[in-house]
Amino acid sequence: MNQIRPTTVHVDLAALRKNLAVVRARVGPSVGILAPVKGDAYGHGLVRVAQALDAENVDMFGVALVEEGKALRRAGIATPILCLGGIGTHGAEDVLEHDLTPMVYDLAAAERLDVAAKEWGTTLSIHLKVDTGMGRLGVPSGHWERFLDRLADFMNLRVDGICTHFAEADTDATFTREQARRFHRAVEAARLREFGPGRLHVANSAALSYTDLRLDLVRAGLALYGISGEPDSELTPVMRVTTEVLFVKNLPAGAGVSYGRQWFATRPTRLATLPVGYADGYPRALSNKAEVFIHGQRCPVRGRVCMDMILVDVTDVTTPVRAGDEVELLGPNIPATELAEHAGTIPYEIICGFSDRVPRAFS
Ligand SMILES: Cc1ncc(COP(=O)(O)O)c(C=O)c1O
Repeated sequence: MNQIRPTTVHVDLAALRKNLAVVRARVGPSVGILAPVKGDAYGHGLVRVAQALDAENVDMFGVALVEEGKALRRAGIATPILCLGGIGTHGAEDVLEHDLTPMVYDLAAAERLDVAAKEWGTTLSIHLKVDTGMGRLGVPSGHWERFLDRLADFMNLRVDGICTHFAEADTDATFTREQARRFHRAVEAARLREFGPGRLHVANSAALSYTDLRLDLVRAGLALYGISGEPDSELTPVMRVTTEVLFVKNLPAGAGVSYGRQWFATRPTRLATLPVGYADGYPRALSNKAEVFIHGQRCPVRGRVCMDMILVDVTDVTTPVRAGDEVELLGPNIPATELAEHAGTIPYEIICGFSDRVPRAFS
């Protein structure tokens, strides 16, 4: 590709493989890995990331949308794919056609899948989700037994897994333990009725530290992409975002900068204009807060982030900064967690946010 604008998301597939090895070593050989690749593999590129993980024999992929599952099948991925978000009202046929495993949490969807499976003359493998306290998807724990009793009518479905999702594995161990207790009660109820239970899975990245909650599969996303809250983490960030300086100029003391002039130079100032903005996924909330890395030094963003450009202060950079010089926007020196903190968000939103306008370069 002939890339004129230099702003690029670099995806280090070797780091991805290394992070998978770290997670595997941590959970041990008896625990399977479900690799969440939803949201365009957390912004890294769905197909290339899934292909790299597939070559390392992950047990299952997790997508949010049936469409994401279809894209993986179109790319030749044959590994089981769990549609974590379920099938909505329109996905039953596609699930069968593309050999996807739906997450089921309501009887209406179960019925649609049962009808479709019967038409296809097959028994469809499904996973069930019980809501133990996240309040998002899943059969509420209080309705679980009634749900199972009704599910028994659907002869063309086979329960190959049961799961739940933690609301605060990173922040509240007491509540996480309570969710786990509710989950085990739900599994017991399924066992009594001879449903599966198949593979049990509850742990996201934050729950990996609960050794007894790894069960049969872990659904660790953020860890695979190399992001951790722990400073001494063995994980390596997979994403790096760079650009090049577009233009450099000197402004006198007192000059205001960018829309709304939210920053004024307090001294003669050298500013570099960079070709990245909120249309690329560089959040406007980073205005006047974030830093970038140029010539081995941190340089503050001055004024508001624009749609296609930002301005950074290179006055204190000891070597001359010129158009064409490389800039790290996110990477080893400017971690996603730092940008997230400045933007008042979480690192997931930062890495998922880089738009299609920014080419992905895989290495
Ligand atoms: C149902 C489900 N499981 C697992 C994950 C992976 O979580 P994490 O990236 O924190 O490991 C997610 C991500 O949001 C999810 O929605």
